[in-house]
Amino acid sequence: MRRKLVAGNWKMNGSLEALAEVDGIAAAAKGANCDVALALPATLLLSAVERVGGSSVAIGAQDVHPAEKGAHTGCISAVMLKDAGASFTLVGHSERRADQGETDADVRAKAEAARRHGLAVILCVGETLAERDAGRAEAVVTGQLEGSLPEGAAAEWLSIAYEPVWAIGTGRTPTVADVAAMHGAIRAKLRELVGTEAEAMRLLYGGSVTGENAAELLDAGDVDGALVGGASLTAVKFVPIIEAPARLPVS
Ligand code: PGA
Repeated sequence: MRRKLVAGNWKMNGSLEALAEVDGIAAAAKGANCDVALALPATLLLSAVERVGGSSVAIGAQDVHPAEKGAHTGCISAVMLKDAGASFTLVGHSERRADQGETDADVRAKAEAARRHGLAVILCVGETLAERDAGRAEAVVTGQLEGSLPEGAAAEWLSIAYEPVWAIGTGRTPTVADVAAMHGAIRAKLRELVGTEAEAMRLLYGGSVTGENAAELLDAGDVDGALVGGASLTAVKFVPIIEAPARLPVS
C-alpha cells in the first residue's frame, strides 16, 4: 500500500509574508491521510523550515546543481539545500527543461547529487501537446524516465511526477483514464528498470490539480499523489487537496 504524497510547487512565487500560508497548510497536514511537501523558492527555505519545525510538512527545493560546490554563479548545491534544512528537491520540471534547456542527463545528474547528500527527489516527466497529438506521449514520457532515472533509484527517496506540459497552469487536465494509462505505462517502465522496487515507488500526477478535481485524479489507478502549482500557493486552495485522500474509498 503506497501512502499518497501531495506536494506543492511555489515556482517563482512567494515572500516571507506569504509564508503565513504555510501555517494553515501545516495544520491541515497534521490530520491528513497523506504526506505533504512544499517545494519553495530557495530564498524561503530556511525561514520555512524554522517556521514549521519538524512538523507534518516536508520543505524542499525546486532544483539543485549537480556539483557540490564551485564556480557556478547563481546555482545552489545539494549540500547548501541540506544546510538550509531542505529535505527534498524537485528535478526535471518541464519549465526547467524548456527554459534552461535541461536534458535527461542533466536531470539524472541532479537527482544523483541530491541523493548523495541525503535529499529525497521528485523527478518530473511529461509530454508537450504536439507530442500527445502526434501519438507519442507514452514514448516521450517513458523515454524521459529511462534517460533521467538516477542510479540506485529506490522508492524510499524517489518519486516520479507525471506532468503533461499542456496541463500545467492551463486549467486543462487529461481524462482520468488517460492519467491512469500513463501512470500504468510509467509503472511498467519502472519494473523494467528497477524491478520490484517499482511497486513501492510513488507516481504523482501534476497539471491543474485543484480542490475540485483532486479526489478523482488521486483515485485513478497507479496515482499515488499530486504535484500542485498554482493551487498550492494559499492554504485556502491547497488544504482541500491535502484533505482529498481521506475522502477516497479504501482500496
Ligand atoms: P499547476 O502546476 O498546478 O499550476 O498546473 C503544476 C506544476 O507545474 O507542478
